[in-house]
Amino acid sequence: RKGRSPEEVVRRYVKKVRTPPDQDCIICMEPLGGPSGYVDPQEGPSSRADAVGQLVQCGHLHHLHCLVALYNTSHKDGSLQCPTCKTVYGVKTGNQPAGKMQFHVIPHSLPGHPDSKTIRIIYTICSGIQGPEDLNPGKPFTARGFPRHCYLPDTQKGRQVLGLLLVAWERRLIFSVGKSSMDGEDDTVVWNQVHHKTEFGSNLTGHGYPDPGHLDAITDQLRALGVAPDDTP
Ligand code: APR
Ligand code: ZN
Repeated sequence: RKGRSPEEVVRRYVKKVRTPPDQDCIICMEPLGGPSGYVDPQEGPSSRADAVGQLVQCGHLHHLHCLVALYNTSHKDGSLQCPTCKTVYGVKTGNQPAGKMQFHVIPHSLPGHPDSKTIRIIYTICSGIQGPEDLNPGKPFTARGFPRHCYLPDTQKGRQVLGLLLVAWERRLIFSVGKSSMDGEDDTVVWNQVHHKTEFGSNLTGHGYPDPGHLDAITDQLRALGVAPDDTP
C-alpha cells in the first residue's frame, strides 16, 4: 500500500467517464464538462484537467484531479471516501493515539434493557506527542477523562456493535486528536463521530440510557467510517 501514488490510489476506485452529464463537481463546484478547479495553474493547460471519474461502487461523478486533491488532504492510507455519499473505498484509518480497549460483561441491566446484562468497554489513552497524521506533528497532546467507560446491552445486536467497535479501534477511528468542542481545548484526544454511551444507570448528559435508537445509530456512524457488518449472508 505504501509507495502507491495518489493518482494510482484514485484510479483503482474509479472508471473513466467519456461524456459527463451536465452537472457540477461537488469538490470544486465547477462543471464536470470543463476543467477541475483544483488543477495547479502552474501546470499549464492540461488535456487531463477535465477528466471525470465515476466511483465504482456508489456511482458518483467527480473530476479525477479533484479526487486526487481530496486524497492528498487525507491520511493517505490508500483509502478514499466519496465526498457525495461517504462510501469508503479501501480501508479508512484515523489518527487515534496508542492506547488500550478492554471490555467485560457486568451482571446488571441498562435502563431500557431489563432482560440483558451489560457490556462495559474501557478505553485508556495517555497524553503524548502528535505524529505525522495529526494536526500539529511534534506538539504534545493531552488526554482528558481517561479511562473512559462505555456501555452496551449484552444482546446479539449489542455484541455485533462491540465487534464493529473493535474493528474501528484497530483502524484508529474511535478517537482523534483535535479540538474538544466541550471546553474548546486544542491538541487533545476527542471522540471521533461514533457516539458512545458513557452513563450507566442515568441519562444526565444525554449520553446514557434508555435510548431505543442507540444501536442502530452507532451502527450507522460506524458504517460512515467504513466499518460495517459483513454484508454476505
Ligand atoms: N459521553 C459520550 N460522548 C460525548 C460526551 C460524553 N460525556 N460528551 C460529548 N460527547 C460526544 C459529543 O456529542 C460529540 O459528538 O463526543 C463528540 C465530541 O465532543 P467533544 O466535547 O469534542 O468530546 P471530548 O472532548 O472527547 O469529550 C467530552 O466525553 O467521555 C467524555 O470524559 C469525556 O467529559 C469528556 C466528554
Ligand atoms: Zn458517492
